[in-house]
Amino acid sequence: MLQTNQVNTTSSTIALPFLQTKEQIAVLLNEYIERSKNGEGPVLLQEKPEQIAQELQLDTVFENGFQNLEDLIDFVKTYLAHTNHLNNPKYMGHQVAVPQDLSGIPDWIHGTVNNPSSLYEMGPAGATLEGFMINWMLSKFNWFKGSNLCDFSTHATNGSGLLTHGGSIANLTALSAARAAIAPEAWTEGNPSDLVVIGPATAHYSVVRALSIMGMGKNAYVPVPVDQNEVILTSHLERVYKEVKNQNKRVMAVVANACATSSGLFDPMEEMAAFCKKYKLWFHVDGAHGAVAILSEKDKERVAGIEKADSIIWDAHKMLQVPSLCTAVLFKNQEHQWNNFRQKGSYVFHENEVIGMDSMPYTVECTKSALGTKLFWSFALKGEQPMIEFIETSFQKARDLYSYLCSLEDFYCPYIPESNILCFQFRPDQLSDQDQLALRYELINSGAFYITSCEFQEKRFLRTVLMNTKTGHEDFVELAETIRKIGSSILSNKH
Ligand SMILES: Cc1ncc(COP(=O)(O)O)c(C=O)c1O
Repeated sequence: MLQTNQVNTTSSTIALPFLQTKEQIAVLLNEYIERSKNGEGPVLLQEKPEQIAQELQLDTVFENGFQNLEDLIDFVKTYLAHTNHLNNPKYMGHQVAVPQDLSGIPDWIHGTVNNPSSLYEMGPAGATLEGFMINWMLSKFNWFKGSNLCDFSTHATNGSGLLTHGGSIANLTALSAARAAIAPEAWTEGNPSDLVVIGPATAHYSVVRALSIMGMGKNAYVPVPVDQNEVILTSHLERVYKEVKNQNKRVMAVVANACATSSGLFDPMEEMAAFCKKYKLWFHVDGAHGAVAILSEKDKERVAGIEKADSIIWDAHKMLQVPSLCTAVLFKNQEHQWNNFRQKGSYVFHENEVIGMDSMPYTVECTKSALGTKLFWSFALKGEQPMIEFIETSFQKARDLYSYLCSLEDFYCPYIPESNILCFQFRPDQLSDQDQLALRYELINSGAFYITSCEFQEKRFLRTVLMNTKTGHEDFVELAETIRKIGSSILSNKH
C-alpha cells in the first residue's frame, strides 16, 4: 500500500496519491479564490503562448508525465497564474459566470465517474438532475404541467427541454426544430429553398451561423431594422414579412434578443409574440443571457411575453453561476422536441423499453457532460431565493454604474441598462473608435481591470458585464479613474 506522500514509480506511469493530490490542489484553489477575491495580483496576465508553454514545460510534461506530486503542483500553480481571474472584483468582462467557491465539485465528480447524462443508463443520477432542472425551468414559463418537479412523466400539454453545451448549439437545436415544424421533409431531402428567418439585425452571430450550418445559407436571415439602441423595431415586422412573402418565401421563425449581447437590452417580446400569433409563425427567444429575468419579480417585466414563444434558449453558465458550459433548450410543445432530429441510431435509441429518460435523440451531441448536475449544484450551494437576489443585484449594479458614469463629464453612456450589461465611452468627442480600443487594451494589459468592448451604434464602445458578487461602487470609481488616466495619456500622445 502506498503511503499518502509516496509516489508509485514501479511502472512508467506515475500513480499519484488520490487524496493527497486533491488536498493539495484544494489548498492551491483556495488560495487562488482568496487572493482573487481580495484583488491581489493582476486580473489577467496575458503572456504569449510560447512563454506560457515554456513556463509550463509542456514538451517535457507531455513526454514524460509528472514525475512526482511536486511537479504536478508546480504545473497547477503556473497554470493558475496564467488564468483570467474571474473572482477578482475588477473582472467585469465577458458573459461568463463567476462561479461560487464550490461550483467546481460537480466537474470533479464527473471527471472521476465520467457518466454522460445523455443516456439514462450511462448516468441515471445525472439524467435525473437534468430532468429535474428542466422541469424547474419549464415551470417558470408555465410550460410544466406535472404535479411537482420530480414528476418526469410526459403530460399531454407539457413543454419539454434538454441541456446542451452552450448557447450556440442551443440556437442551432431550436432553429432545427423550427425547420422540422414547417418543412419536416428537409431532414431527408434537404432544405426547400424558400425558408427564411427574420429577427433583429443585432441577433447573436450563432443564429446566422446555425442557418449556414443547416445548409440554408446566411442570407436566409432577413434582418428587421433596429432603433438607435439596437432593439428591434416591431413596427417594421409587418413590412419585412410582406416583402418576404412577395418573394414567395416562407418564414421559418422569428427571433428575439433577450437580451442583445452587446447592449444587454431586450426586444419587446409581447409585441413580437402577437405578430407571430397573427401569422402563425414560430417564435424563438434567444434568452441566452437574459432569460433569467423571469425569476425576478422586479425584473421579469423585461421578458414579458417570453412564455408565448415556441422555443427559448437559456445559458446557465452566464447568469446562474454555473461553470461553462450549460444551456437549456426549451420547447412549449414537447412534440417539437421529439420531431426535431428524425434519425435512428439503433445502438442507442430504444424508445419504449427504457427506464428513465434519454436526451440523446434530441441533442446535437451524442455524448454530453453531466450538465444537469452542475446546474442543480449551483442552487444546492445557495438556494433559489439567494440566486434570484444575486440576479437582481447584478442588474442593479449596471444601473449604479450607469448613474455614476453619467455623473462624470468625460464619460458617455448611450442607454439606461436593462440587465447587468453596460456599454460606455470615454471622451467620445476626442477619442476615436481606434482610441477606445487602444484604451481597453492598455487597461486590460495593466492587469488592473478586465472589461470588453463592442460595436454599438456603429461605434466602438467599452463594455462591462457585472456578475461578480464582490464588485462594488469603489471598483467603479477606480475603473473611471484608471480609464481617465489611460485615456488622457492617449489624448496627449495624439496632440
Ligand atoms: C444572446 C446570445 N445568444 C447566444 C450566445 C452564445 O452562447 P454560448 O457562448 O454559450 O455559445 C450568446 C453568447 O454570449 C449570447 O449573448
